[in-house]
Amino acid sequence: MLSANRPGFLTRSTLAALILAVTTLALPTLTSAQAAEEHPTFTRDVVPILQASCQNCHRPKGMAPMPLVTYEQVLPFAPLIKYKTSNRTMPPWHIDRNIGIQEFKNDRSLSAEEIATLSAWVDAGAPEGDAADMPPQVEFADAAEWNIGEPDVIVSWNYTVPAVGADLYGDLYSDDLIGELSEDRYIKAIQTRTPDDASRRVVHHGLSYAEGGSGNGNDEESQFLVEYASGKDAEIYPDDSGVLLEADSKIRLSYHFHPVGVETDAKIELGIVFHPKGYVPKYRRWSKQLGQRMSLIDIPAGEVVRTDGYVYFHLNAKITAFQPHMHALGTYQCLELIYPSLGATAKTEIVSCAHWDYNWHTIYNYNDDSAPLVPKGTVGHMISYFDNTEANPGNHDARNWTGDGGRTIDEMSFSWLGWVDLTDEEYNEELARRKALREADGTSVAGLD
Ligand code: HEC
Repeated sequence: MLSANRPGFLTRSTLAALILAVTTLALPTLTSAQAAEEHPTFTRDVVPILQASCQNCHRPKGMAPMPLVTYEQVLPFAPLIKYKTSNRTMPPWHIDRNIGIQEFKNDRSLSAEEIATLSAWVDAGAPEGDAADMPPQVEFADAAEWNIGEPDVIVSWNYTVPAVGADLYGDLYSDDLIGELSEDRYIKAIQTRTPDDASRRVVHHGLSYAEGGSGNGNDEESQFLVEYASGKDAEIYPDDSGVLLEADSKIRLSYHFHPVGVETDAKIELGIVFHPKGYVPKYRRWSKQLGQRMSLIDIPAGEVVRTDGYVYFHLNAKITAFQPHMHALGTYQCLELIYPSLGATAKTEIVSCAHWDYNWHTIYNYNDDSAPLVPKGTVGHMISYFDNTEANPGNHDARNWTGDGGRTIDEMSFSWLGWVDLTDEEYNEELARRKALREADGTSVAGLD
């Protein structure tokens, strides 16, 4: 029929009849045939992307506001899905793709092809497609389940959050952590969870610290263990590593609760899986807040401000995870390494930069072959940007000066780094391994030159 459309073949009247026929009868079939060929469909092309990258949060009882499982659920959001995936605000993954390391264990971002598929589907009118193409539904674990396996020890805290009132901040302590902790043990995996929906609504964050093990009761020296916050992923320790929990430690939970209109019994549980008794992992893993410029954060109303924090690496290290931390005015944070100076100039390298959204405390776990190697004597440099203008959607009132502090309306400027220390021998071995890898595949690896 398409070839008959060439004008030379046709008289005026047959052409008119044909046009009529095409518009009334043939056009609908033509369009849907074309759509199947040229346009992505929901069942065939869109669902696999939603299953792999969205439904973990966007499903009934998931953490996201709406499920994206059935066609009826997804259709009203089609334009918003195009918008949020094209500007890469969904799935939440805020690493700057133009600078620094891009290989992560928990990268949940979409590929350029996936984004193009979603956009083309929306532009085509979001067709459902053939029901036969629909893949089976994916079963997800209950959001309340442990994703570290069954913990050896669970420390739990309860708190009655009133129906109304200001946000609540403070510390809760465990009794002697755990009767079993009469000797030093290494943590293999750790997770904080809120076991029910009601708790999830009121628990804004919970940070746990080990205290008192070797008498270091003050804030400076308590050892940070793990964070629970909106949008936080599980922290992945590399194999062969563990976090030392000293005998007789107590666990302090630094909390932030948020009243939601009904009195709520908030439950928070910290689950710990230990390495076997007596086992000393090859690497002791550290996790600390570094580069904070407390008392030096000074953000006048209406201004964009940068702060610079520093940390000195006394020992060789491998950085396994980077997690920026700022509050509402934060917009962007970078981790730079200033390598020990060999001559007049020190070589510097930006390892990672991430855009900041206070709703998303994302931890970026580096792939083993890309985790930055840090020779001793290196200075870590945390560069944080704050936007105290109207242009920042996170800014509730651009008329206020803002400084440092613990409240959500104050600011912070540190990075959480996870790392393991390396002996000279281990460092050189890993360096040689990386160089060989890089020669093989032509990629670049932080800290090698
Ligand atoms: C890690 C959890 C998570 C993943 C993965 C995720 N989302 Fe979301 N999404 C959320 C949360 C939470 C919100 C609401 C808060 C926000 O916008 O940051 C949201 C909001 C949205 C919104 C805006 C809804 C509105 O009414 O404003 C859209 C659209 C969306 N997500 C689409 C997607 C798509 C498409 C994917 C996958 C390609 C995806 N999301 C992956 C958690 C997630």
